[in-house]
Amino acid sequence: MTEPILQVKNLTTRFRTDRGVVTAVDRVSFDVAAGETLAIVGESGSGKSVTALSILGLIPQPPGVIESGEIRFEGQDLLKLRPAAMRAIRGNRIAMVFQEPMSSMNPALTVGKQIAEPIRVHQGRAWRDAYEEAAQLLAQVQIPEPRSRVHAYPHQFSGGMRQRAMIAMALACKPKLIIADEPTTALDVTVQAQILDLLKGLAQKSGTALILITHDLGVVARYADRVAVMYGGRLVETASADELYRHPAHPYTRGLMACVPRLDGDTSQPLVPIDGQPPDLTALGPGCAFLPRCRLAQAQCRQAPPELRAISGRTSDQHLKACFVHDAH
Ligand SMILES: Nc1ncnc2c1ncn2[C@@H]1O[C@H](COP(=O)(O)OP(=O)(O)O)[C@@H](O)[C@H]1O
Ligand SMILES: [Mg+2]
Repeated sequence: MTEPILQVKNLTTRFRTDRGVVTAVDRVSFDVAAGETLAIVGESGSGKSVTALSILGLIPQPPGVIESGEIRFEGQDLLKLRPAAMRAIRGNRIAMVFQEPMSSMNPALTVGKQIAEPIRVHQGRAWRDAYEEAAQLLAQVQIPEPRSRVHAYPHQFSGGMRQRAMIAMALACKPKLIIADEPTTALDVTVQAQILDLLKGLAQKSGTALILITHDLGVVARYADRVAVMYGGRLVETASADELYRHPAHPYTRGLMACVPRLDGDTSQPLVPIDGQPPDLTALGPGCAFLPRCRLAQAQCRQAPPELRAISGRTSDQHLKACFVHDAH
């Protein structure tokens, strides 16, 4: 395996809220290799976005605090950088694509200007040059008539086109890592597939690593090389996408799998949602966060949260799970 370009170690991020302290990300560790697509999956509220925002240095502090951990990117710990140094990396070496482009685009500036701006700032290029590059990027993300569209404002674009423009913006500085947080959730299914195909294709072509955050296992199956499954702010299972689909090990992952429509289009099996509610992060017990919903829970599961460990017999594939229940396939 190539050297990871991102190593997250023991990351813990908490928020102070009226209802108590929320541990949104609890001792999470994972690596991303150059050119690799890692999917982070889990239900709403499982800590996916907070993980992304922690990497990007965008946790509002207060109410948030990154309590511990390391985020090593290209050899330096991002958590130790001054804000100015982090700004030089964000939008440049690490780019992001969010769910709702309208909220991350400036409605008062043309799309072209917003794509050209980081090229100018981070690469010191002249406006003219940067605009030329912006038009080329719009062409790359398959926006028709890119030369006139650089002068359009975000509200003149459809949702799908705005998301394409966000991808163009993300690619502008040739990042080493793109973090895409539910980039297509707001779009209809056909447009969703087009955009993800595009993002994945462009990332692959340029050798850019991709962290793809999603709650959709269909997306994972199609685009991810590796998968990290989160539950209640903790990582509960990681494996290659192939391995995870063939041998899901954690009871939560198995539950999620049972919710996925069959990839072969056979709809004769009804979808089975996981029983119960996502955990209240202000009131987690001492044991496993999944315990109240787990049909396999044992006495041990109540005492302490299980560590993420290699599954016996499957160490060669870097398949890890955080579960005390005996490994059975
Ligand atoms: N700014 C914030 N203030 C307080 N709590 C927050 C804040 N941002 C996120 N959280 C909490 O952190 C937990 C994880 O949230 P998030 O990472 O957004 O989940 P996901 O992206 O997996 O749906 C949630 O309980 C959420 O309420
Ligand atoms: Mg989220």
